Amino acid sequence: MNFIDQEEQVIHILKDKLPSQAKYHIMTYGCQMNEHDSEKISWILEQVGFHATPDPQEADLILLNTCSIRHSAEDKVYGKLGELKHQKKQRDLTIAVCGCMMQREESRNKVLEKCKHVDIIFGTNNIHKLPALLLDHYETEKRTIDIDESFQSIDDKLLANRYYPYKSFVNIMYGCNNFCSYCIVPYTRGREVSRPSQDILNEVRALVASGVLEITLLGQNVNSYTPALENGYSFTHLIYDLAKIQGLKRIRFMTSHPKDISDDLLMAFKDLDSLCNFLHLPVQAGSNSVLRKMNRRYSREDYMRKIDKVKNLVPDIALCTDIMVGFPEESEDDFQDTLDLVKYVQYDSAFTFLYSPREGTPAANNIQQIPKEIKQDRFNRLTETLYPIFEKKNKALVGKTLEVLVEDHSKHDTSMLTGRTESFKLTHFRGGDRLIGKILPIKITSANSFNLEGEFIGS
Ligand code: 5AD
Ligand code: SF4
Repeated sequence: MNFIDQEEQVIHILKDKLPSQAKYHIMTYGCQMNEHDSEKISWILEQVGFHATPDPQEADLILLNTCSIRHSAEDKVYGKLGELKHQKKQRDLTIAVCGCMMQREESRNKVLEKCKHVDIIFGTNNIHKLPALLLDHYETEKRTIDIDESFQSIDDKLLANRYYPYKSFVNIMYGCNNFCSYCIVPYTRGREVSRPSQDILNEVRALVASGVLEITLLGQNVNSYTPALENGYSFTHLIYDLAKIQGLKRIRFMTSHPKDISDDLLMAFKDLDSLCNFLHLPVQAGSNSVLRKMNRRYSREDYMRKIDKVKNLVPDIALCTDIMVGFPEESEDDFQDTLDLVKYVQYDSAFTFLYSPREGTPAANNIQQIPKEIKQDRFNRLTETLYPIFEKKNKALVGKTLEVLVEDHSKHDTSMLTGRTESFKLTHFRGGDRLIGKILPIKITSANSFNLEGEFIGS
């Protein structure tokens, strides 16, 4: 039974209770998992009769899908909730908060105590209960809370309102078992659960039939994808099975753990045309002593060996990473190891972070925290090292013709279009609406650290 049949009665009653032309607005914080959860929430809200609005001021329902990976992510949400308090005084507004912060008891309690204007609270495991929660709230006019600690996959019953018609996220697994000593995710998203491979393949076949050209497989650690009752079926098997789907032009995945990425997956980059030449492999730090304290379970040498291997197999692969500075006890020498490693790898792009202590994780209890000024100084030196590398890598593409999946108009100049190369480089070029959604050859004419510019060479 699909979601709509199952919830038919709730949806029917709820539709009657909604204001006419009820509008919703979702604010999403954090990673692609959250973005995709918001697409599912958006689909649910439209099934029950809401319409999306880009303007929060005219929304009857505002929903904050939160992230708790760093302190700053949580602060943004508290700031937004403060603003919404004033809006709520001026009009009839329902406020819902969901996502990782609500899975954390401390943050949930803070919202419960300090933000009395929040009407509905739910977690990452019970998105599908949103119609029932809304109904309860509209009927009782009381605050409604529903958090499930345990995860049950209901993906097959939910669809998502995709932001783009020709590319889509697809969840393949949830949760994480790694317990890196700084990370809150295993506590908010719980233990790893993999979806059955047939469910994923069916979802992708349906997406491709509806016009999707590119999928991004999502999981905190896709390399440990292990569907129950599918003896020996691995992430690499899944990639090869997906590559057989006619019409699916591009396959991406996020995120891999360096300790788990296998040689056969690296081979797949060479073997499969549709597996994009882009690898996001978070290193976090370049010092063995810091990696050990982070509980990452690989050494800088292990990491560099994997990088060498993939570069040998696929010389034009674009490499991306996550790097953190200021982990407890990180010395200047440790930090220099990080700088050395990034120079060795020659990344195309990177997500860089200041370490942020998260209550409940082992690293937060370490008494040798690094002062803020030192963290900031290392962060600045890291980006000063990285940006010229990005620029050099991008400039090397000038004169080449690359295939770009055209996504949209450029935000800054509507006569320009923007899209991504197979290697995930953001590329701008001049062109009209009819090119959106196509994969086109673009001749690269200039580049900086963060994007490329080019010309469409077809007609
Ligand atoms: N502080 C700073 N960055 C963090 N990340 C995870 N936890 C923390 C933290 N406590 C970063 C890691 C991870 C990315 C998603 O966020 O680099 O790969
Ligand atoms: Fe967090 Fe480590 Fe799991 Fe990534 S692998 S989600 S950093 S615990």
